[in-house]
Amino acid sequence: KQLSQAKGYVVDPTQQDNAVHSANSPPKRPPKRRKIDEAEKMRGPMGEKLALPSTAFALGVLKLGKAASGSKPYAKPTTINRPKDVEEARLLLPIVSEEQPIMEAIMLNPVVVICGETGSGKTTQVPQFLYEAGFGNPDSETPGMIGITQPRRVAAISMANRVAHELSLTSSQVSYQIRYDATVSSSTSIKFMTDGVLLRELATDFLLSKYSVVVIDEAHERSINTDILIGVLSRVIKLREEMWKEGKAGAKLLRLIIMSATLRVSDFVENKSLFPTPPPIVNVPARQHPVTIHFSRRTSPDYVTDAIKKACKIHARLPPGGILIFLTGQNEITADIEAEDMEIDLQDQAQLDSDFNENMGDADEHVLEGDLDEDIDQELGIDTEESEVPMHVVPLYSLLPSEKQMEVFKPPPANARLVVVATNIAETSLTIPGIKYVIDCGRAKERRYDVTNGIQTFQIDWISKASASQRAGRAGRTGPGHCYRLYSSALFENYFQQFSAPEILRAPIEGVVLQMKNMHIDTVVNFPFPTPPDRFALQQAEKVLTHLGALAKSTSPASNREMVDSQVTDLGRTMALFPLPPRFSRMLAAGQHHQCLPYIIAMVSIMSVGDPFLYEEAIQEGDSTQEDSEDISYLTNETVKAKEMRRLRRKEYFQSQHRHASLGNFTSDILKALSVVGAYEYQGGGVEFCSQHFVRFKAMEEIHKLRAQITNIMRLYFPETRAEFSAKLTPPNKIQVKVLKQLVAAAFIDQIAVRKDLTEHKGSSGGAQYSNSHSIPYRAMGISEDVFLHPSSVLSDRPPPDYIAFQEVVRTSRVFVKGLTTVNPAWLSSLGKSTLCTYSKPFKRTDGTLMITPRFGPEGWELPAVKAE
Ligand code: CDP
Ligand code: MG
Repeated sequence: KQLSQAKGYVVDPTQQDNAVHSANSPPKRPPKRRKIDEAEKMRGPMGEKLALPSTAFALGVLKLGKAASGSKPYAKPTTINRPKDVEEARLLLPIVSEEQPIMEAIMLNPVVVICGETGSGKTTQVPQFLYEAGFGNPDSETPGMIGITQPRRVAAISMANRVAHELSLTSSQVSYQIRYDATVSSSTSIKFMTDGVLLRELATDFLLSKYSVVVIDEAHERSINTDILIGVLSRVIKLREEMWKEGKAGAKLLRLIIMSATLRVSDFVENKSLFPTPPPIVNVPARQHPVTIHFSRRTSPDYVTDAIKKACKIHARLPPGGILIFLTGQNEITADIEAEDMEIDLQDQAQLDSDFNENMGDADEHVLEGDLDEDIDQELGIDTEESEVPMHVVPLYSLLPSEKQMEVFKPPPANARLVVVATNIAETSLTIPGIKYVIDCGRAKERRYDVTNGIQTFQIDWISKASASQRAGRAGRTGPGHCYRLYSSALFENYFQQFSAPEILRAPIEGVVLQMKNMHIDTVVNFPFPTPPDRFALQQAEKVLTHLGALAKSTSPASNREMVDSQVTDLGRTMALFPLPPRFSRMLAAGQHHQCLPYIIAMVSIMSVGDPFLYEEAIQEGDSTQEDSEDISYLTNETVKAKEMRRLRRKEYFQSQHRHASLGNFTSDILKALSVVGAYEYQGGGVEFCSQHFVRFKAMEEIHKLRAQITNIMRLYFPETRAEFSAKLTPPNKIQVKVLKQLVAAAFIDQIAVRKDLTEHKGSSGGAQYSNSHSIPYRAMGISEDVFLHPSSVLSDRPPPDYIAFQEVVRTSRVFVKGLTTVNPAWLSSLGKSTLCTYSKPFKRTDGTLMITPRFGPEGWELPAVKAE
């Protein structure tokens, strides 16, 4: 019933109750007090009974405290006990002096936007303000948890720990929940979680009845999850308000707080379909120390080398203070460094010195903007004694294990200078203590996705001006700082966008659409997206989900609207149980043959986490699943190896690749990955194993956890499959291997590529005989350009197969298909019952060739048939 109220989401501004949505103030001013109508005097906005005069009420729900004595104007239902040092430190945070306007805005408005620079104290302090005001306290008038979402797991964990410490509460009172791990209990008052966790909770409890307030943090990042959450929550707060006004027993209002590190909040605030009454914005004044920006005179393409040189120079010559280097995380860079034979170990002082000497002649490299003083020494007026102090280099990127990520928060060894080499993870959500110098390469690796053909690119592109200023800001936290931009000011002015595009415009959205339909948001086009995705993308997503059987058109005769919205089916609901892209969930439903389910679970876990193999030496070109940076680990002493060691490792590498590829007899990348995952599970995992088998530890652990999670869901919802699971994954037998390949073909039946020469009408014998698949063009469904087999594939450097199924398409130097499995075309028509695409029975063309044709697919090109196995 509650769910059905949420359907449709047509917003009628006339239904708005002005008494509740009243306060609306321009930026930079505290919200105006509102007028209270008579009926409302009886109850405060949180549903509590009140018998206060309206002015007192307006001041605060709030139960006037001793305002006259200078304390805050509202009573604090929850007393707290912070450690003394915490109490002192937090007084220095800019947001603490804004507590009153913030809490007033929150008490008087259902939605409040808080803007404040990174480090101003939003994430650590706003939950404490709320807690102190009584939110999250079962004995107060506002019981129900304080929920705070974070885009990244590492932030959810570290912020929960930090706030627990600041409030002297236990880790279950201030808890976190991420995909595989939670410290939540019945005594939880404050819960940090990833945005995905809250989205899943919405599917089972649309009213979020456990919460009294939800804080969406880092909204400026505009991740898909954040955007969807804001859209859904704009409706949830309205539903909770309606129920409260109807006087439903136990009904309580829900508050929504959106926090952003930038002032660009117009997509939320000025979006009438989202919030008919614009929410007030509370601005936290920046208390940032000045950061001097130094542009380079010219933009060098070799920014990694530049960054290293710059760090060495700073270290040798400038006063103490941490250095934060922003790189992109693209591993081609590693190759660049190797090419120049620059085996720099940043901890090697001798190397440092020689580098430093090399560099001192290069006087024109850095120019202080608007200042002719080019010499760093003169800028700062310090002596130029060379540094004896060691560097303590720490990498920070999202695929690094969490414990390693936490290293950046620890003080460096005595006297050492902290150097953090990071991707843009360090841009806003984590504040690293003691950073005085920032080196910004000006680029970031972005994943883009073209909805028309599914081609993904992981491009290194210029960051936005907003990002550049965030990065620079990291240098001014503890005192005046310096930011060295490894690009020219002309480039910055002419080529940098003001802001980067929200993720929803550049990622596949089938999963999002299924989740929304599963919440009974049927008219997806009317959903109040902060930035609506392309209509075509939404239609395409619905089409794919319908073909997968997750959605179906409503057959109810009652709805005689022109456009009938498709609704989630039983299968769709089942698919939504799994934290997987819909295509993979569908594989689980199809995979219950020949005791293959445990393998399918492992395979979808692998595909969803991404290729676990490291291709550090073997691949020169365009590997992009390594979203994180070998360049970063390269810079640290962890992975820097002597050349001889590398040669040996290369040999081991090829042996290991060969061994795992033999599971599918060199016909399938996913079977190769299954081989290594099976071995990992069999041997009990570990870092050692990963080093031996050239796989990324974090990916392996992630696959392990996801596999366990899916297995549990299967056991819970499909008890009849229970017999199939054993503790260890034994290698599949021959029949199972074939079935697995057929299931892969079925799952990717709309992603089949065929060798180009077979599509050209050259007679039945096809084209030339190839001995090696390198550089052989293929034609792929729905893609107008030729595609090539990615060099990371087991099919690469082997006789090129006729037909392949591919998991993804990426554009680097060419358009590559990745995640390949050979397909017997005879399967294609017999897999005709498959939902995404069906193929005709083979038919004879006039020239005598046997053909089959796909029946669904953006572009129905003809597939020449080849004899079955
Ligand atoms: O969210 P926002 O960027 O506005 O700031 P925050 O994350 O609440 O951080 C406020 C301050 O707390 C910063 O100066 C951090 O250095 C500090 N902090 C800390 O010392 N340890 C943590 N684990 C988290 C924050
Ligand atoms: Mg924050």
